[in-house]
Amino acid sequence: MAKRKKEKVRILSQERLAEGIFSMWIETEAAALARPGQFISIYTNDAGKLLPRPISICETDGERKRLRVVYRVTGKDTGTEQFSEMKEGELLEIIGPLGNGFPLERAEGKRVCLMGGGIGVPPILELAKQIRCLEKQIVVGYRDENTFLKEEFDRNGSLYISTEDGSVGTKGNVMDAVRENELSADVVYACGPTPMLRAIKEFAEKNRVECYISLEERMACGIGACLGCVCQSKETDSHSNVKNKRICKDGPVFLSTEVEI
Ligand SMILES: Cc1cc2nc3c(=O)[nH]c(=O)nc-3n(C[C@H](O)[C@H](O)[C@H](O)COP(=O)(O)OP(=O)(O)OC[C@H]3O[C@@H](n4cnc5c(N)ncnc54)[C@H](O)[C@@H]3O)c2cc1C
Ligand code: FES
Repeated sequence: MAKRKKEKVRILSQERLAEGIFSMWIETEAAALARPGQFISIYTNDAGKLLPRPISICETDGERKRLRVVYRVTGKDTGTEQFSEMKEGELLEIIGPLGNGFPLERAEGKRVCLMGGGIGVPPILELAKQIRCLEKQIVVGYRDENTFLKEEFDRNGSLYISTEDGSVGTKGNVMDAVRENELSADVVYACGPTPMLRAIKEFAEKNRVECYISLEERMACGIGACLGCVCQSKETDSHSNVKNKRICKDGPVFLSTEVEI
């Protein structure tokens, strides 16, 4: 993969989708290169916040050089709060696309289940748009009735929703929705919080289903140099000679049987 350079990009639009959740389209060369499941790292304009924030690619339009991210503001005086205050026309610095992305070719001729939970929901959208398969089931989980991106998912597959408070769809998490709707698949692709991914990994391995999970970890360099984002792998890594994988570079997407979470 070519070495990625920092790029100054223009904000094309900024929209609040739900309480604390924002959608931003940017104009970037990265749009033409990006694959579903990859991410970009976004720098803040605050000299006190040196590290860029890794944010998944939610949608791309390579021809028009447009890329969308959907992100949650994590708190006061954070980088994500600063992004949310920026307006159309302002400039941001990014690097990307980074990471490996979901293996789309594994879905050909198969029944797939795409699963997203919480702020792991956004990268599932571009995946749902691009994946070619026999049957496409999308299962997304939210806290409450703020089911952001729901209409977009509805247009791109058979949609099942879970909410923690039961206000929309199945009450509970994405695995509860899978059980309630008696869903089954040949290949699973998932992104979300670690407890959700752990449950999906366990379910998939018990039922011998091929499963790809996108992991999240705090990152520093974001390009594989600092080993700040490792997770434990089954096999010894050729880069570090220990049972480690760098989430930013070797991932964030892994075959579930490759990693311990
Ligand atoms: C591969 C990947 C994809 C992601 N995709 C999305 C997405 O699409 N939408 C979204 O809202 N969030 C996403 N996240 C989480 C996002 O990176 C953090 O919420 C964000 O970095 C928090 O930054 P902050 O300035 O708001 O918080 P602060 O707490 O001020 O951040 C302090 C430092 O910790 C890091 N950090 C804090 N929380 C996280 C976290 N959960 N993961 C990684 N680094 C963290 C920050 O990058 C920063 O360097 C993703 C994380 C990873 C690793
Ligand atoms: S963040 Fe530096 S190796 Fe992953």
